[in-house]
Amino acid sequence: MKIVSTAVEVQAIAQEYRDNGLKIGLVPTMGWFHEGHLALMKEAGNRADKVIVSLFVNPIQFGLGEDLDNYPHDLERDCKLAEEVGVDVLYAPTKDLMYPGGFSTTVHIEGLTSGLCGADRPGHFDGVTTVVSKLFNQTLPHVAVFGEKDFQQLAVIRQLACDLDFPIEIIGHPIVREKSGLAMSSRNSYLKKDELNAALSLSEGIASGRKLALDKKEVSVQEIKKTVADVILKHPECDIDYIEVVDQATLQKCEDVTSDSMLVLAVTINKRIRLLDNSKIKGS
Ligand code: PAF
Repeated sequence: MKIVSTAVEVQAIAQEYRDNGLKIGLVPTMGWFHEGHLALMKEAGNRADKVIVSLFVNPIQFGLGEDLDNYPHDLERDCKLAEEVGVDVLYAPTKDLMYPGGFSTTVHIEGLTSGLCGADRPGHFDGVTTVVSKLFNQTLPHVAVFGEKDFQQLAVIRQLACDLDFPIEIIGHPIVREKSGLAMSSRNSYLKKDELNAALSLSEGIASGRKLALDKKEVSVQEIKKTVADVILKHPECDIDYIEVVDQATLQKCEDVTSDSMLVLAVTINKRIRLLDNSKIKGS
């Protein structure tokens, strides 16, 4: 596995792959790999000849008081894991290489970014779309794979690729869960043992919401949201940032539960750890 840190290096490698007719799959990450990341890398490997993984904790997508400074980081560990699943290039730029002095561009997407996580984290999606645009230009991928746990992010990136004519197929990979049901996330590493049950309430809440939709022929959005909230609020450690039922393509709030409705939620544990989860309400 090649490890590079500059845009010039990674772009030259990508261009050489392209000149040799090879298909490139990109997996953008912020590191601290878990099975969820490794699944994205394997998916990219199934869809492309060469896999490039970017590892960059992107400062401009973190707000004041968020966990930028504590974000878990171990390049050596991550390199080993990426190499084990057959990644060809690990691209790990520094902050100064990604955003040199004088950098002054922001990519902003209207609409999709204003609700859900965008409402709680102003500027977050501008940071994501700016860095992902740069990563697309630097690594020249044919396909890029993102996790569905960050459901809004995936919708925003699909919009980005469409609006800015990036000739890249955007693939969403299903959430990878612990045996317990907890959606895998680098932020799970912040959880103390006695916070695990609170964290589990997200997937348990979703399961209750889905069960209600299965059991009752007619179920309202309000009933689903209340059922999920009741499960989560049994844990005093949990603050609900949002529980919403949205259309899976537009992210607009649904008035009725349909086969396209997604249940999406964000919960903060002990004011420190913000966790996301989501699921279709009906079907798999
Ligand atoms: O999902 C993430 O890890 C980040 O938001 C991404 C897409 C790598 C951009 O920094």
